[in-house]
Amino acid sequence: MVQTQTRPLGLGLIGCGGFGEYCMETYARLPGIRPAAAHDRTRPVAERLAGRFGIPVEDEALSLIHRPDVDIVHIATPPSTHVELAFKAIAAGKHVLCEKPLAINLADADALLAAARSREVILPVNFVLRYSPVTEAVDRIIRSGILGRPLHAVFENFAQDEILGPRHWFWNAKISGGIFIEHAVHFFDLYAGWFGPGHVAAAHAVTREDSMAEDRVMCITHYNNGAVVYQYHGFDQAERMDRQNHHLLFELGDLYVYGWVPQSLAVTGLVDEEGLARFQTLLPGADVQVLETFRPQDQNFHSRWKERHATQRVRLTWGPGISKDALYRQCISQLMADQIAYLADRSHVRRVAESNGREALALAVQATGREKA
Ligand SMILES: NC(=O)c1ccc[n+]([C@@H]2O[C@H](COP(=O)([O-])OP(=O)(O)OC[C@H]3O[C@@H](n4cnc5c(N)ncnc54)[C@H](O)[C@@H]3O)[C@@H](O)[C@H]2O)c1
Repeated sequence: MVQTQTRPLGLGLIGCGGFGEYCMETYARLPGIRPAAAHDRTRPVAERLAGRFGIPVEDEALSLIHRPDVDIVHIATPPSTHVELAFKAIAAGKHVLCEKPLAINLADADALLAAARSREVILPVNFVLRYSPVTEAVDRIIRSGILGRPLHAVFENFAQDEILGPRHWFWNAKISGGIFIEHAVHFFDLYAGWFGPGHVAAAHAVTREDSMAEDRVMCITHYNNGAVVYQYHGFDQAERMDRQNHHLLFELGDLYVYGWVPQSLAVTGLVDEEGLARFQTLLPGADVQVLETFRPQDQNFHSRWKERHATQRVRLTWGPGISKDALYRQCISQLMADQIAYLADRSHVRRVAESNGREALALAVQATGREKA
């Protein structure tokens, strides 16, 4: 029997570390959610968080899960622990919001999805990037076809490792699954949203000198829409140097995305007056610069064996104009609000649903070369 949720959801947090706490701060301000209880295998960590939110600590994950005031369990522990905890919550008939990745292998992910289906509970992965207004804007541009087909993209993530000391679980692939599974999974999901299904055509990983720690991974994914995406993730920078390059190439222009949580964008392209007007509808309030105006005799040209027409080369810049922290929290809130809306009305279509966790993991697993997806 599908239950419709009407009262605020009681939220139980398992894993009260960095991200669990960040999310709890955000959810505590969200209508429709009520912090209910916390558990961490290190009790003082749970106590500190519980004290902040005035909620009880449970010594065991199972006792948190079985509390009658817990409706949804947020699993914010390291990746290798997600499956066992999610199974326990699902078996108790509780909804689960799982941190990425859903699991570190596909067999476990499939078993979890089957269990969630049979208990009629939700099990989304916290793929917050899908909820950025910039992610949506990129999606609108792709679907509009104004720039023609997407051909290629590069996402290079020069990430910091200042908070990742040599003993951090992140470096232990048995716990994290490795960088493709622990981190790149966000971007496999992002591109699944933009480009649809694909497969990993090539991948490579590099370990740090004198260490077993895999600190740089790279792969090429070929999407069924014809586009090819190169991803690089290296965790080797100082925090103050944490940066990304994110470029999507189209037949008639370029799109640059700024921020690993997409925070703003710039688009340059060849358009006619109608194309520019459509751009301004897709990116309301964008800053527009005309870089070049073509003489009538230069307005028709060819590329990719097609006839093209453009009157000008333009550049538009656009973003919601909020800080990275405000944007990240907005994405976290909106993913949860989307799930709450679904629980209240099962005809509501969520931007992130159960299958997305599995699909992104499948590509991440392909990239590791450890199993066939
Ligand atoms: N969606 C996102 O944008 C995003 C961002 C950061 C981290 N994450 C994910 O969140 C998860 C946690 O990451 P973090 O950076 O907060 O890690 P963390 O190490 O800061 O916190 C993990 C916490 O889990 C606790 N823990 C470990 N095993 C446990 C178990 N079996 N039962 C109960 N508690 C246990 C630890 O004591 C620790 O307090 C990871 O899966 C990570 O990939 C997601």
